[in-house]
Amino acid sequence: MTESARRPFIKQALRAAASAAVALGTARAARSESSAAAAGGATPDWQEIRRSFALAAGHAYLNTATLGAAPRHALDEVARGYQLLAADPETARTDLYGRVERSVRPALARLLGADPDEIALTSSASESLYLISNGIALEPGDEVVTTNQDHPAGIDPWTVRAERSGIAVRQVSIPSPFTSGGQVVDLFREALSARTRVLSFCHVTRGGHLFPVKELCALARDRGIVSAVDGAQALGMLEVVLHGLGCDLYAGSPHKWLLAPSGNGMLYVRRKAQARLVSLFERPGAGGRDARRYEHVGTYALPVRVALGAALELFEQIGIREIERRNRALSDYLKAGLESIRGVRRISLTSREVSSAGITLFEIEGIKAMEFQARALQKHRIHVDEHVRNGHDAVRVSTHFYNSRAEIDLLLEILRHEIRRS
Ligand SMILES: Cc1ncc(COP(=O)(O)O)c(C=O)c1O
Repeated sequence: MTESARRPFIKQALRAAASAAVALGTARAARSESSAAAAGGATPDWQEIRRSFALAAGHAYLNTATLGAAPRHALDEVARGYQLLAADPETARTDLYGRVERSVRPALARLLGADPDEIALTSSASESLYLISNGIALEPGDEVVTTNQDHPAGIDPWTVRAERSGIAVRQVSIPSPFTSGGQVVDLFREALSARTRVLSFCHVTRGGHLFPVKELCALARDRGIVSAVDGAQALGMLEVVLHGLGCDLYAGSPHKWLLAPSGNGMLYVRRKAQARLVSLFERPGAGGRDARRYEHVGTYALPVRVALGAALELFEQIGIREIERRNRALSDYLKAGLESIRGVRRISLTSREVSSAGITLFEIEGIKAMEFQARALQKHRIHVDEHVRNGHDAVRVSTHFYNSRAEIDLLLEILRHEIRRS
């Protein structure tokens, strides 16, 4: 499908009238979704949009926080790109590279409220986080302040840097859950010292807690400290406006909530912060160029990167605010359902200030999270993850716009069933 042929296809999916339920192929799915439509959520038509994904029938995929499912037209883009490269490598290479520059990078920048020359395209958030930890000039004794809730992908690069060059890494202990953004800012403020050079923290944690990014970045800026945000769980789940957040650096994982084919990462480097981040891949005489300088050199998986553009097209057409609203509605629905089950302790709060729009944590009395995760998958074909960290033995559920209330109902039913049999 050409670029122009694809657009009407997506538009059609967005406009189509409500029809038979597809998610799990059950009448219950139809009931759940049509009641949502009756409550005013008729457009976009989420059931129709769900059809544009290749998610396995009969499975409930509730684990986007680990890896998103790319829409079919993005998969087609990957296949077509490699076919073109196989047919005429040289011409296709130039053409695909041109598409990345003409449409993919600008579309990502548009979605994120940044400029294209502040965006480096990488292959994962982990790669971006290593680019950050290896690119900031630090002296022995300088400190990086991070948290106990950061992902190993965010902490490991700093630990390695500390081992190699004698910097100190301080992990602030943040309660899970915390009750206000102010609480987090206060804990960070107390942890700062005259040697602090970098604040490194998540926008949305692995467990779904929402950090006060704007306030933390302001705290850093006031003291000349670099703010480095791990946005792996935020990008595509909720609206992110980078210029508004005021961060210096922001690492993203478009193959999670942004639903790009796997192998897509990004790194935002605010224009003025580019002087403080050295590139690992600087070419002789190329210093001072824009954020492209942080991208690794050499031939890369061009079709995979071009297909990020296809995923972005879907986001542009639905609208990130609409997506955030949908995600919020689904996780609110899940949270309310969890309340009604004895033996379940919900960890994620409902407050918009501290909870993200798509990740919910809960513990089950008498059942280990890993045991539940394995049984849910093997017996019931429901995909969830565990969150055994920060003192929790919790189940982690991701609800993205392609999920349905019917899938959540099914999870709740399985939960009741597993509690009864335990
Ligand atoms: C908070 C956080 N940061 C970083 C990562 C790593 O992302 P990637 O797989 O794109 O390297 C993850 C992955 O789960 C994550 O949850």
